[in-house]
Amino acid sequence: MKKKYWLIAGVLAVPLLTTAGVALSDGDNRHKSLLSWFTNTNPGIDPKTTQLYTDECGGCHFPYQPGLLPANSWEQIMGRLDDHFGENAELTESNRDAIRNFLLNNAAGRANYGLPNKIMAAQGDRSLPLRITEMRYFTYEHSELQPAMVRDNPEVGSFSNCDSCHQSAKQGLYDEHDVRIPGFGRWED
Ligand code: HEC
Ligand code: HEC
Repeated sequence: MKKKYWLIAGVLAVPLLTTAGVALSDGDNRHKSLLSWFTNTNPGIDPKTTQLYTDECGGCHFPYQPGLLPANSWEQIMGRLDDHFGENAELTESNRDAIRNFLLNNAAGRANYGLPNKIMAAQGDRSLPLRITEMRYFTYEHSELQPAMVRDNPEVGSFSNCDSCHQSAKQGLYDEHDVRIPGFGRWED
């Protein structure tokens, strides 16, 4: 009699565990993704603003999602657009204000979920750089990459070119299983 109960419990436990597993991984993916900014599913963001951002800040390089940097860094970047990493990236006042608000409202530390939270946690009380690529989280995650894959790779050139390796960067997905380094192929950890 006892044995039978165990058997039933076992049978029941399997689907329960599987459902829990699926639920967890779904949730995790959703939180990992910065997708909401660019698919208009974030109720707080006007799609016109994401379009403006992509047009104005995505012409010279990949349009970095706001959650990749803390508000303080975005504030400094937006305050010095006339001297933007050696380039002039000045905007009209109204475009600058709209983009500045968009970046600050959705910055790491303000957007409370997945990747932005991890970026803030990893930074601890270190000072805040202007570059995503100088944030502690970033340097830690990319520490295994060789210069031949990045700086000396003519198809990449710099870590700033997220989308040359992260195939779904434009959708805000940076999963390590979705990385293909030009000339080196798929990343196998
Ligand atoms: C005229 C070209 C140009 C425009 C327009 C431009 N940028 Fe840049 N941006 C650059 C250059 C050049 C760099 C340095 C890239 C490098 O070192 O490889 C840079 C770097 C950055 C970085 C640091 C990336 C890293 O390495 O972590 C951020 C963040 C950034 N830009 C944000 C913006 C924002 C926000 C806007 C719109 C307001 C913008 N950029 C518009 C040229 C531009
Ligand atoms: C030269 C190719 C390359 C470039 C350029 C690059 N990455 Fe990565 N990135 C990788 C690889 C490879 C990994 C996985 C590293 C590992 O697991 O050891 C990774 C990991 C990550 C992770 C962690 C993913 C996870 O599943 O934990 C994030 C987030 C990330 N990159 C964001 C960025 C952003 C944002 C940029 C641009 C500012 C960028 N990366 C530029 C290759 C690149």
